Parts: sequence; structure tokens; C-alpha cells
Amino acid sequence: MKPILTEKYRPQFHFSPLEKWMNDPNGMVYFQGEYHLFYQFHPYSTIWGPMHWGHAVSKDLIHWEQLPAALHPDEHGAIFSGSAVVDWENTTGFFDDQPGLVAIYTSHDTYPGSDRPRQRQCLAYSSDNGRTWTKYSGNPVLADETKTDYRDPKVFWHSETKHWIQVLATGQSATIYKSPNLIDWQFASEFAEGSHAGFWECPDLFPLPLDSGKEKWVMLVSLGDTGEHAEGSRTQYFIGDFDGETFVNDHEKETVLWLDYGRDNYAGVSWSDLPARRIYIGWMSNWRYANQVPTKEWRGVMTIPRELSLISNADGIRLIQKPVSEAQVLRIGCESFKDKLVTTEQPVSIPLKSALLELNLEVEFEGPALAEITIQHSEAEKTIIRYDSETETLSADRTASGEADFSASFPAVQEAPLKMKDNSIRLQLFLDASSIELFGNDGECAITSLVFPESKESVLHLASHGGAIKIRSMELHELSSIWNKEG
Ligand code: FRU
Repeated sequence: MKPILTEKYRPQFHFSPLEKWMNDPNGMVYFQGEYHLFYQFHPYSTIWGPMHWGHAVSKDLIHWEQLPAALHPDEHGAIFSGSAVVDWENTTGFFDDQPGLVAIYTSHDTYPGSDRPRQRQCLAYSSDNGRTWTKYSGNPVLADETKTDYRDPKVFWHSETKHWIQVLATGQSATIYKSPNLIDWQFASEFAEGSHAGFWECPDLFPLPLDSGKEKWVMLVSLGDTGEHAEGSRTQYFIGDFDGETFVNDHEKETVLWLDYGRDNYAGVSWSDLPARRIYIGWMSNWRYANQVPTKEWRGVMTIPRELSLISNADGIRLIQKPVSEAQVLRIGCESFKDKLVTTEQPVSIPLKSALLELNLEVEFEGPALAEITIQHSEAEKTIIRYDSETETLSADRTASGEADFSASFPAVQEAPLKMKDNSIRLQLFLDASSIELFGNDGECAITSLVFPESKESVLHLASHGGAIKIRSMELHELSSIWNKEG
């Protein structure tokens, strides 16, 4: 394998660009059997700079073919985040006989003769499955001089009202516009509830079915890092209804629901035009230290793609996220056991054959206890996952996981609420060369976290404090790398 693919922190089964800087996922669309992933890309540096859209395609959401950058800066500026759709009915008039792809993105420059940022929405289209793009000659299609933060358009077709809908991040709100043709946009409404702990970025809006057969709408909103909160940048979500004009939140406007309790899942949005499923991917980093993470030839990695659904539980309706089932293709070996008691005196240690793994565990608590799963990367380096049955809190502690001196904000214990069911919890953990992703109770909570361990010779320890626990079942899968020789 090329040295660039074996660099010590190089993700082996998550998407990362072959080289240089990557941030937000952009323009994800499913078309003619291909999942497209575009992304914020700086092809000349491993730190953020004039943005392009990088491009990759996949047939299974796990193995990616990396393609040349799709969109380059132009006379309207750099190419910030945005979305892409299939224009099935040729509402734009851009296509001849076949439907094609239209990208809607933010052009970022400054007002002539001033330093004030200018953000305007532009279009580009492709008739060859996203391989080449033409910028629309009438760009920009949406501008507002009164707004400085005016970016990250997410567009979808609303079949009930037969309009395109655009959700745009507008400072401390999401503004909704509608259009018959992606070119002429009209204001519909503005939504500004929930958390304002950071400027709003990268919104998404989509319906999901409820178990009752009813449908609810979900809005995702990422919150930028203001420097005031230990968490840095993170993502909230809302559940409500949408009639083609206005999003109505089910909750009190102060209610805040977090998409992920780890520090490294930002700017996530979902695939467009994917029948029957809603899959999203996030950028596995945090603006607090994204430019400093200790990788060399490349910087930036995506989360594992996750399928979204809704459940109704005692707290109300909640968003569930699970790694896509396609990830099972990575499994190459399995160790398992059932019904093993772990007492304070008798921890269990399992040497790991690989530093790439998926762990599925069901843990039963016979009384109050603190369960501890330690990934011992080397003698000095460990990542500790804990579940406290008294406070019903799941946590991932990366204070001693490895390299962390690049940012004072990096060492952290990341905590998520997780209720027991029938005195037990289920955990799913993915470990790659520089990340862990932890899902509680089949996706009721997620903790996504970068870690930079020096050594890849790991041991897994299962321990319990203050009482015994029973491992009802454990399945440990060694995972394969997605890179081939050429990358
Ligand atoms: C979010 C973001 C977007 C913007 C892009 C620039 O991470 O700040 O709001 O479009 O990154 O790269």
C-alpha cells in the first residue's frame, strides 16, 4: 500500500481524502446506483483555505472511488457547503432528454471594496453523473445583502406542494425558501428555536416515518464553535411538522436535542434522492482543533454513514442513528461469548488481533455498578468507555488515549444519557486507526470521538466497579481496510 495510506492515523474504513484538507460533507445524492459524496476540500494544503468541492462515489457507502475535484472557485468566490439533487422533471431546463444532477452551493467572497464577507447561493449542473459540471450562467440565484452569514443551502423536492424547498443557515436561524425551478426563489419562513450556542450552519430537513405509520419532519442544525463552550462545534436536531412553507417544532422552543454526545460529528447532512432510506454522514472533527489534528498528508475524515429513524419512547419522539448495514461487509473474523460474569476481582481481558474492530455487547446490571470497557492501545494509552447504572450515563474518556497536545480542548470525557432496558444496555463500538464511534441501545445515543493512539497493539479489558455485571453477549469482529494498493 502507498505510504500515504498507512500513515499511523490514517482511517482504514472511514472515508478520508487521499491527500489534503477536508471538512463538511456536501451534495450527497444517490443517482443511477451511485452514492455521491462531495466535500469541502482544499487541494493545496492540509489546513482550511479556498474551498473546492472534492468528489468520491461509492456503490455500497463503504468503499469509495476518489475522483477529481468537482467544483473550483470562480468569479463569485470559493465554493462553500451545499447540496445536490436529481432534477427528474428538468424543472431547470438545464438538461436535454435525461434527468441530471444540480448542485446548489454557497459562493463566498467579499463585497467589492470591503472586507465584509459575501455569501450567495449558486447552481452548477452535470449531465454525466457528476463527472463534469457547468456553472449556471445566471449565478447567483439567491442573495441578501442584509445578511452576512447566509450559507449551506440544503434543497429537496416537496411533492405535496410541487416545489423545491431550500433550507439555508442565516446567522442564528434557518430560513426556508421555495422555488418551482431551482432558479427563482421566494421566502417562505424562518425558524430560530433551540440552541443558539453557536452560529447556525449546514441545516437539513427531511421526513421520517414513525412506528404509528405517521410521518414527522426532522431538522438538523449544526452550531459553530464560538470558543465559549467546551464542546466546540456540534449538531442539534428538532422534530416537528412541515407543510411546504413552515417548520413547526413539536417541543418547547428552549428544548435542545443533541445529535451526538461526542466531540467529533459536525456538519452532517443526508443523502438526497435515496428511496426508502435516510442516510447521513458527518465530518468527524471539531472546529476547535480541526486545523491542528496530528495527521500529515491529509486532514479530515467522515463518520461511518448512519441510517436515521424515529422512535417514540418515554421522553417523546427521538432520532435514532445506526451505522448502515452495509458496514457488515467489513467483518472478517468474529470472536463471541455469552453469559460471562465480570466481578470487581475478575476482569476479562481479550487481546485484539486488529486495531480495526466492531464490538457488540449486551451488559446486564444485577445492581448498581460501573462497567468499564478499556481499549488498551499500549501500556500508557487507553480509551475508556464507562456505563454508570446509577446515573444511567454512558461515557467515552479520551484523556489518555494518545496524542493530545495539539489542543488543550482535546482531552475530554464525553457523556451521554442512556436508559437501561430490562436492567441492561446494548453497545456497539467501531474502532478505526484514529476514531471511536459508540452507539447505545441500537442508536438511541451516539458518542463519536477522534483518538490518536501511538500503538495499534490493543487489548480489550472488561471490568466492573462497585458490583458485578453480566456480559449477556459479546461479539467482536475484526474489520478489513477499504483501501486497495492504489488507494
Ligand atoms: C461548516 C462550515 C460551513 C461553510 C463551510 C466552509 O463547517 O463553516 O458553514 O459553508 O464550513 O468550509
